[in-house]
Amino acid sequence: MKVKNICCIGAGYVGGPTMSVIAQKCPEINVTVVDLNEKRIAAWNDKDVENIPIYEPGLSAVVEDARGRNLFFSTDVDEAIDQADMIFISVNTPTKTYGIGKGMAADLKWIELCARQIARVATSDKIVVEKSTLPVRTAQALKNILDNTGNGVNFQILSNPEFLAEGTAVDDLLKPDRVLIGGDLDTEKGKDAMQALVDVYAHWVPQTNILTTNVWSSELSKLTANAFLAQRVSSINAMSELCEVTGADVNEVAKAVGMDSRIGPKFLKASVGFGGSCFQKDILNLVYIAKSFGLNEVADYWEQVILMNDHQKRRFAANIVKTLYNTVSGKKIAMLGWAFKKDTNDTREAASIYVADYLLNEQAEIVVYDPKVTEEQIYGDLDYLGSRPDEENRKLVKVVNTAKEACSEAHAIALMTEWDEFLEIDWQAVYENMLKPAFLFDGRKLLDKHKMKDLGFKFYAIGN
Ligand code: UDX
Ligand code: UDX
Ligand code: ADP
Repeated sequence: MKVKNICCIGAGYVGGPTMSVIAQKCPEINVTVVDLNEKRIAAWNDKDVENIPIYEPGLSAVVEDARGRNLFFSTDVDEAIDQADMIFISVNTPTKTYGIGKGMAADLKWIELCARQIARVATSDKIVVEKSTLPVRTAQALKNILDNTGNGVNFQILSNPEFLAEGTAVDDLLKPDRVLIGGDLDTEKGKDAMQALVDVYAHWVPQTNILTTNVWSSELSKLTANAFLAQRVSSINAMSELCEVTGADVNEVAKAVGMDSRIGPKFLKASVGFGGSCFQKDILNLVYIAKSFGLNEVADYWEQVILMNDHQKRRFAANIVKTLYNTVSGKKIAMLGWAFKKDTNDTREAASIYVADYLLNEQAEIVVYDPKVTEEQIYGDLDYLGSRPDEENRKLVKVVNTAKEACSEAHAIALMTEWDEFLEIDWQAVYENMLKPAFLFDGRKLLDKHKMKDLGFKFYAIGN
């Protein structure tokens, strides 16, 4: 079977870029991305393509190429489901904030709503593809809902986890290490559905990079990949603390270790802690699944990755307070960067949020500058924690438009995100405009220690 019409439910950080690239590479397939969020869809349709709601290098050019030709953004979910022969589910699956599994399990409310909507609307056979990261065995739940509430049409469920990283989404989509497709290998219909999706990717991905597995392997591979990546970051962050007390330099250690071809050089950058929508959520998910099968040692092993990450964020903030003579009350602290990594405007689980919260509890005054994150987003992130009244966050936190403005008259700077432009700052001028002693805490090991010390900063970097 040849796919002619694709619908993607969810126009977020995963659905938006993925569908844009599919549309660009498969001009004969119509791709419609739908979302309940009208504002988000309007932004995807904005005449000025620079105003699309997600910042990713290279994305606006891809959208410009395909939009209106075979790429469409709409709020009419029913219509898009009805027209499609393949439906991607790419809605958010945050960690549950209530009830059983609170703080651990993924909240599948939105997935289930999608499934019920598809079942209600579909009057022809559909291939349903789970794109969101989901706990193992979600495909079965999807199938049960579809088969029991549908109109008697045939649904084939595929798992096709997304491995793109934000900030490099377009490159990752164009040249994926692998595309993973899980499906029902035991039936003809299952195999046909998998082949249909393989054919979509084969427009630009070499066949040898397209893996097919059973559904459960596919679902579990996604959680495992993210758990391994996060574990590397927690491992190097654990060593960063040891480096600080022994006089070793974590970058030197990472380099020496990473040259072992069995270990490899990537994902060994010490930081103030990993963030993003996936790592913590997926590990918590893994921990929850392991516990639910009574595998307590497995659960404890992976949970430690999160505990280490929490510790890293907390100790960075605590070190600021300790270094500033045990009090930051009423002191101005500049935070450079708010996004969870460079080249994205996403802030989910960003270390900056937790560091800011800690400093606010110590009554600091915070001034934030991030090149891509809006003021509304920053206040939203802090309000969401519920640590203090919303008005208090607006009183204690200011958001400004330049790094220079953020640092002016500050007692200390906390560098939170490794944006390239922070390397270009006139640090001499920044130093001159700060209160003395001028403290600089580099949470990303971005800046040159010797240069900063020569300028006069009291300089602290993770792992040094
Ligand atoms: C190790 C280091 O590899 C080497 O660099 C260091 O100098 C000494 O310690 P060694 O203990 O000789 O070398 O063997 P290695 O190949 O690392 O295996 C260690 C153990 O891990 C073995 O029992 C091996 O069976 C096991 N292993 C290794 C696995 O169970 N799975 C693997 O994927 C790899
Ligand atoms: C991750 C996975 O990489 C991707 O394959 C999956 O599809 C989604 O989750 P993402 O969260 O977008 O992608 O970004 P990633 O580059 O993995 O970074 C996650 C966090 O780890 C960031 O906060 C980053 O700053 C941090 N990190 C990463 C480090 O602190 N050190 C490193 O060496 C690498
Ligand atoms: P991700 O990083 O997984 O892409 P996002 O939160 O960026 O997550 O995007 C998920 C999108 O899915 C949101 O824009 C949300 O409005 C949308 N969404 C959630 N549930 C539904 C639904 N039932 N129908 C349509 N869109 C939905």
